[in-house]
Amino acid sequence: MEALIATSDSRQPPARCTAKLADVTVTTTAAEAAHTRIEPGILYFGTPVVLLSTVDQAGVPNLAPMSSAFWLGWRGMLGLGAKSKTAQNLMRNRECVLNLPSDTMAAAVDRLALTTGSDPVPARKYERGYRHEPDKFGKAGLTPVSSETVAPPRVAECPVTMEAVVEAVHPLAEDDPAQRGGILVFEVRVQRVHVHDEVRMPGTEDRIDPDRWRPLIMSFQKLYGLGPQVHPSTLAKIPERLYRGPDIERSRDQSSRANENRFTSGSQR
Ligand SMILES: Cc1cc2nc3c(=O)[nH]c(=O)nc-3n(C[C@H](O)[C@H](O)[C@H](O)COP(=O)(O)O)c2cc1C
Repeated sequence: MEALIATSDSRQPPARCTAKLADVTVTTTAAEAAHTRIEPGILYFGTPVVLLSTVDQAGVPNLAPMSSAFWLGWRGMLGLGAKSKTAQNLMRNRECVLNLPSDTMAAAVDRLALTTGSDPVPARKYERGYRHEPDKFGKAGLTPVSSETVAPPRVAECPVTMEAVVEAVHPLAEDDPAQRGGILVFEVRVQRVHVHDEVRMPGTEDRIDPDRWRPLIMSFQKLYGLGPQVHPSTLAKIPERLYRGPDIERSRDQSSRANENRFTSGSQR
């Protein structure tokens, strides 16, 4: 397991130097009172839900909702509890599919809440009400379909599915012995992007139209959709093609292994 973890943990963090505020005018009094200091238990302000499919040691697919996810180029960063079945599958096989549900799929996603592919259920999860579920696709009522380049199946109903491989595993909170090893951040490289035609931007080959794409968002454990655009975006003046990085070209080298990717559903075990 250690061999898979990125070497960043062996590097010493740079010494912290105390920053001093430059000579600027800092407003006090009324404006200062605009905030109240609080200590929320979680800081989940709102990120898209991902249904992460992986396969276990027997080739049985697992499907887990997660939302500590973001993307830069064709790389994704996925924060996962190290004891989850998904994290263990990723450490072993280094493959997954990032299935992005739309807001109309909230009920299916919610059916997977409090389930785990782990058997036995880890004690802390059991206390919170989690139960083992061997057939996550069946439980959610979602359809597994073969991927082109990885063994884990895609979710047919998700408007966006991305086949990906793990390129690095970064430990979180390594500085604190009490938290060390609890959460892993998986850096994945996307190899295929598949979309439903209804989310594509008309008149373009490779673009998703944000006015058509309605992602499911998790905010403070609750499920939301997105409203309409609230303001013209200056950033959106940068043409999307300027963001195309080398991982797109590289993904084409990955040949399809469609015939190998016959998966076994949990119920057929
Ligand atoms: C909407 C939603 C978002 C979640 N986000 C995360 C997350 O970002 N990271 C994580 O480790 N668990 C997250 N969870 C909890 C996992 O789904 C849970 O740990 C599950 O047991 C993982 O399944 P597995 O053990 O079969 O891998 C989320 C659950 C839901 C319902």
